[in-house]
Amino acid sequence: MILITGGAGFIGANFILNWFDTTDEPVVNLDKLTYAGNLRNLASLQDDPRHIFVHGDLGDTALTTRLLTEYQPRGIINFAAESHVDRSIHSPEDFIQTNIVGTFRLLESARAYWHGLQGAAQSNFRFLHVSTDEVYGSLKLDDPAFTEQHRYEPNSPYSASKAASDHLVRAYHHTYGLPVLTTNCSNNYGPYQFPEKLIPLMIVNALAGKSLPIYGDGRQVRDWLYVKDHCCAIQSVIQAGQPGEIYNIGGWNEKPNIDIVHTVCALLDELQPRIDGISYSQQIRFVKDRPGHDQRYAIDARKIERELGWKPAETFETGIRKTVQWYLDNQAWVSNVQNGNYRDWVHKQYEKVRA
Ligand code: NAD
Ligand code: DAU
Repeated sequence: MILITGGAGFIGANFILNWFDTTDEPVVNLDKLTYAGNLRNLASLQDDPRHIFVHGDLGDTALTTRLLTEYQPRGIINFAAESHVDRSIHSPEDFIQTNIVGTFRLLESARAYWHGLQGAAQSNFRFLHVSTDEVYGSLKLDDPAFTEQHRYEPNSPYSASKAASDHLVRAYHHTYGLPVLTTNCSNNYGPYQFPEKLIPLMIVNALAGKSLPIYGDGRQVRDWLYVKDHCCAIQSVIQAGQPGEIYNIGGWNEKPNIDIVHTVCALLDELQPRIDGISYSQQIRFVKDRPGHDQRYAIDARKIERELGWKPAETFETGIRKTVQWYLDNQAWVSNVQNGNYRDWVHKQYEKVRA
């Protein structure tokens, strides 16, 4: 079996659902259930003995040691993190605690466990750390995309905390020989993404008749990947990646934010038009920019394609259509996550960023 952290969040939950589409190997899912973690994402696994949910913190050494001893997993996949850049700008503390201290403590538990394994169990063990392209910093419009050799230049408290965790993972390989793998992925989108991130926020706000807040001029570029493609990439890396190696994962799909929002509006105009017949794009508003806003991310994903044979299955056109349709079909999920905490966040963030 494998141990997953953060499996009730957006990518972790998609990963577990996707995992059980291809294998019956059990998963122990350790998640703190912060505002971003939601067991409704895994409702279809409620009575499924292959999924063992444990409510807890990846930084709780006694707990992770107990789970490793009890379940004897062949690998760990570390998804758990504070993941939203804007929240890291308001309150960085949780990012330091979970992303850096939590990853460090998990590495310590993993090192002790791995050290005690024998023979094939020890040589086959893997620790896969899920990271982000944001650790590489910001590209100019004509710079080549990030390769695995790109220097680290994180610009936000979020990306700095992820960069620190990547360095710890690397150090545990070089110093202790722990068989680690690191993946650095671009922006994901798809089902179950919390509506604080660009694409789900735009869908949810559009349908609620609210404004669609674009930071700055909307010309910042992100490289978008459908979440299921990211999950398949992680599965390839845990199965066949070389210990100590880094794999960049991306969708070869760079787009300015404003184009993304126009695409979402056009799909909603087609799938659920406004009663007055006016396009949702009329709700777009340009607001004050994100402090330290990175201009462009782009991933060069040739290494994982060459070495592990992975490439994305979805184009942006197919992935974004599925995503918009999913949010239209799952409005009960959306209402459920829009609790008091969510409303407080939206109020705090968007009162401040109004242009
Ligand atoms: P998310 O915020 O949706 O989910 C994070 C999950 O981690 C939640 O279930 C939360 O409850 C859990 N968690 C938080 N703190 C924890 C702790 N201390 N102990 C245990 N669980 C804890 O995040 P996501 O978008 O699913 O991202 C997952 C991982 O992928 C993160 O490491 C993130 O940095 C990375 N990543 C995300 C993207 C993206 O576009 N979303 C892209 C590249 C990499
Ligand atoms: O690149 C990978 C990263 O992608 C992940 O590591 C992060 O966990 C994930 O949150 C994401 O970070 P971004 O900051 O790129 O994603 P976000 O959805 O917050 O914003 C995408 C772009 O849209 C960014 O340029 C900021 C802009 N934006 C975002 C919001 C929420 C807006 O213009 N308006 C908004 O309201």
